[in-house]
Parts: sequence; structure tokens; C-alpha cells
Amino acid sequence: MSKYVLGHDLKGEGKRLALMSELLDPMHRRHIEALGIIKPGARALEVGCGNGSISAWLAEQVSPGGKAVAVDLDLSLIEVRTPNLELRQDDIVAGPVERGSFDLVTARAVLHHIADVEAATKNLAASVRPGGALLLIEPDFLPVSVAEPPEVRTFWDGWLAWSRERGIDYYIGRELAPRLAALGLTQINGNAESAIYNGGSRWADYWTQTITELRGDLITSGKLKDVLVDTFLNHCADSNWWTQTIAFTVVHGRVPLA
Ligand SMILES: C[S@@+](CC[C@H](N)C(=O)[O-])C[C@H]1O[C@@H](n2cnc3c(N)ncnc32)[C@H](O)[C@@H]1O
Repeated sequence: MSKYVLGHDLKGEGKRLALMSELLDPMHRRHIEALGIIKPGARALEVGCGNGSISAWLAEQVSPGGKAVAVDLDLSLIEVRTPNLELRQDDIVAGPVERGSFDLVTARAVLHHIADVEAATKNLAASVRPGGALLLIEPDFLPVSVAEPPEVRTFWDGWLAWSRERGIDYYIGRELAPRLAALGLTQINGNAESAIYNGGSRWADYWTQTITELRGDLITSGKLKDVLVDTFLNHCADSNWWTQTIAFTVVHGRVPLA
């Protein structure tokens, strides 16, 4: 069974996932809508659904007559319950959710946590019906290479060294398109969106919560020192500090008709 570093039992995880929904759902919904396949009667699958905000929205969009399925290793943080939303506790590395069954399969901020990305991506694609679409959104930390001031870059260097040791790949965004192409998907398209934010903003809150939640592990790993973590958190509280961190890479493709 796969393991997830930011377990749902961590004290602040519900709040952190709620903030992710607030920051990322508008972009995710926009890209799903642009595909033009989610309408009443359709079948949609979200894998690694977290708190289920996108799955609940998908269930609304495919109603009446359609169905949404939300899959995660841990369903404990899902609050929404609607008749056409099915929740399934499952590991996407283990196999397809339902072979060739969904008009749309989507996963956001999931694959970078998975050790066997090849199996997970193959199983996501295998759950799409012929002619249906797979839409992936994952981070790429390219923008931190130009973050200012220099101590912020040093902070991210430590964070990235910690994440590599924990099996997290924060540069996976750039791999999505070639992975879909290797699986035989067609009509592959993508782009990346980076939020530009300042201290005190919602993105700064997100990082403050995340770093605070993981602080113990970051320090014990030896990859970051308390003083550098404090410096970063101080920037996150300073409205004059502007930065960008993640290029959220959105890639979609179609499973060819048989
Ligand atoms: C960073 S959270 C993202 C949640 C949500 N997609 C979002 O963007 O707000 C990653 C989620 O993927 C789930 N996850 C991690 N590995 C998984 C796996 N192998 N199979 C299914 N879900 C997994 C975690 O439990 C967690 O809910």
C-alpha cells in the first residue's frame, strides 16, 4: 500500500487541504470545463481527491443521470455526501479504478507523492473510456530557482533536498506530457500557471501552515536549520515580499477510440 507524507491525521491537514481547494479549484474547474465533456449524464473520476471539493463539484456537473467517483488512500477528510458521488478508498498504484469506464479522469497534486508514477499514470489512463480524457495537474518548482532574496533560494534548496529524501518529486510537472504520450494518449495539450504572491496572502498562509506542520521533520532530517525556517516564515508575513514558487502544470490528453 502506498504511503502519503502529509497524512490526513496530521493536526492541520484538514485546514491545509481546504486552503488548497480555495487556491486551486478555480483553475482546476476552468481546465475541466474547457474539455467540454463534463455534462449531465457523464461519468467522472477524481483520484487523490483530498477533501473531495472537486469530486463534489463534478457530481453536480454530471447531474442528472451521471456519476462521480472520488478515490483516495484516506477518505476521512471528505465532508460532502451527495447521492451521485461514490467514495472509494483505494490505491491508484494497485490498479485501474474501473477499466475503460470514465469520460474524464483527473488527479491534482497526487503523482508527485507517488513512488511508482509509471504504474499510477498507467492506471489512471486505463480508467478512461476510449475517446475520454485524462487531466493531470502537478507542481513543478522551476520558479524557486529565481526566488529572491538569496536566503529564500537556500530555504527552497533545503526543502527540495528534504522532499527528495521523502520520495516527493517537485519537478514532476515537466514529465506529464511525455508520460501521457508514452501511454499512447493523443491530443495532448498543456500549460503551466504560477501564482505571484506576497507575504500575508493566501499562498503565504498555505506555506506558513505547511512548513509549520512539517517543521519537526524538516529539522530532524538535517536539510534545514531553525534559523532558515524562521527567516522564510518571516518573509511569508511581510507584505512587501513578492515571490512565486510553483508552476502548476496542467496536461490533458485523450484515450484513442479503439
Ligand atoms: C497533496 S494532497 C492533494 C489533494 C487534492 N487533490 C488537492 O489538490 O487539493 C494528495 C492526496 O493524494 C492522496 N494519495 C496519495 N497517494 C495516493 C495513492 N497512491 N492512491 C490514491 N490517493 C493517493 C493523499 O491521500 C492526498 O489526499
